[in-house]
Amino acid sequence: MDFNWLDRLQAEGFAVVDDFLDADVAHGLWQSARRLKSEGRFRGAGIGQGSDHQVQKRIRGDEVLWWDGKMGPIESKFSDRLTEVKQAINQDWFLGLWEWEGHYACYAPGTYYEKHVDPFREDDSRVLSTITYLNPDWQKEDGGELVIYPTSHPEGLKIEPKAGRLVVFFSEKLPHEVLKTRRDRYSITGWFKKRKVQR
Ligand code: OGA
Ligand code: MN
Repeated sequence: MDFNWLDRLQAEGFAVVDDFLDADVAHGLWQSARRLKSEGRFRGAGIGQGSDHQVQKRIRGDEVLWWDGKMGPIESKFSDRLTEVKQAINQDWFLGLWEWEGHYACYAPGTYYEKHVDPFREDDSRVLSTITYLNPDWQKEDGGELVIYPTSHPEGLKIEPKAGRLVVFFSEKLPHEVLKTRRDRYSITGWFKKRKVQR
């Protein structure tokens, strides 16, 4: 795998990596996600954690399916890619990334996610956010862009959710939002975490 984008991640706090997934893997994950969705396995996504947890469609409209160890072979391929990323990062930066947790997400037409940052208030274990897009043939008129707000671009940078594309950033630092989509929008969103410090 080519890891040149790690330099951009370090310098700018985020990186957009096209063709992170081969087209056949992205397509397989898209099909798997749509099948699981049609089987009723997705649930309204929440904001907050534990007793803070609530589903608020006006803030966040996606439905998600959290991954566990028992997903299929195509999900294993994706996990293998992420393991390579984790190893490369740990080798270069000593961040001590420990595990990845994440979920499939589907935004139905008309849904969005308001501007936010990812870490939970009581928990700083999320170090890097990873979002990988699955929809083939995404068109401008489909909407659903991710907008990130790095300090270098306070007006926001729009990123189209194209199949195979990875967006990765430091979870604490980067406000971002999902604009209203006009088409079912599938992705895998997750976080590389460090071990929780006992307080
Ligand atoms: C999230 C999120 C962005 C996207 O799930 O926290 O910000 O582009 N997703 O799907
Ligand atoms: Mn987010």
